[in-house]
Amino acid sequence: MKVNKGIILAGGLGSRLYPITLGISKHLLPVYDKPMIYYPLSNFLNLNVFNILIITKPNDLDNYKKLLGNGSKFGIKISYKTQKKPDGIPQALVIGKKFIGKDKVYINLGDHILFGKKLNNIFDKINQDFTNNFIFSKKTKNPKDYGIIKYLNNKPKKIFEKPKRYISNRAVCGLYFYNNNIFKYLKFLKKSNRNEYEITELNNLLIQNNDIKIINLPNSISWYDAGTFERIAEISKLISYYAKNNLFFGYLEHIAYKKKLINKNDYLRAIKNYSNTEYSHNLKKLLYINESY
Ligand code: DAU
Repeated sequence: MKVNKGIILAGGLGSRLYPITLGISKHLLPVYDKPMIYYPLSNFLNLNVFNILIITKPNDLDNYKKLLGNGSKFGIKISYKTQKKPDGIPQALVIGKKFIGKDKVYINLGDHILFGKKLNNIFDKINQDFTNNFIFSKKTKNPKDYGIIKYLNNKPKKIFEKPKRYISNRAVCGLYFYNNNIFKYLKFLKKSNRNEYEITELNNLLIQNNDIKIINLPNSISWYDAGTFERIAEISKLISYYAKNNLFFGYLEHIAYKKKLINKNDYLRAIKNYSNTEYSHNLKKLLYINESY
């Protein structure tokens, strides 16, 4: 399966992180040595998705353009659209309709941090085998915080968004893959009690029609929704610990270099441009280790 389009949803109010996010978009906050959005971007690069639309709040657009430009420094294409108010995750498909055209598309949430040494094996298998809609699931200790899957006879029956009572420990992650037939379902969505279109409702329509697969990620893969200070601190600590032990996650220039999207001169230029930063030191180390994720 060849999919080269992906959307990152980096709007929303980020109100759980006020007053910080009154001045800056949540997805630009640091997670260890790089902005949060580098992690969902690195998922896309690892999935060979090189044509990316980033959706931001109108006020934040210039900051994203300053940081990422048109993507050429990573050898990819990045374009931008804005979302005036946070109407829900499925709006990525509405705002991105023209970008998607007749193709398939991934949607990744801007605060979605998914990493692990074995993740690329999973991505490679997906790229070979999958053509139909799918989502990822991971076991969680905090089922009240996520979309949670109810199973019946081992088959997914329904997803419950942030259920108050225990349903299961299987959470839906923030990386979704849809076929172009998704637009057929999208028109049936109605706003929920919290006045949003819900991605859970869209996925439930797919479940009812037996039109979606759920990929259960193993425990070895780390998954976080970087929506609170505690989690941002926890992830930063973990990724920094890994880097100190020569296991590198989210270094876009290095993934791009490995995939021959940029050449060695481009890579060395990045090291020079960020000189004397932890990020630059890690890029330098990666010249010798040459293995990043
Ligand atoms: O993290 C996985 C979870 O993501 C799933 O388990 C849930 O089913 C799904 O609803 C979602 O829950 P969240 O509570 O994390 O969604 P939140 O409203 O925080 O939005 C996630 C990101 O998407 C956030 O970084 C901001 C962005 N966003 C969100 C909305 C609703 C937008 O850019 N625009 C929007 O309209």
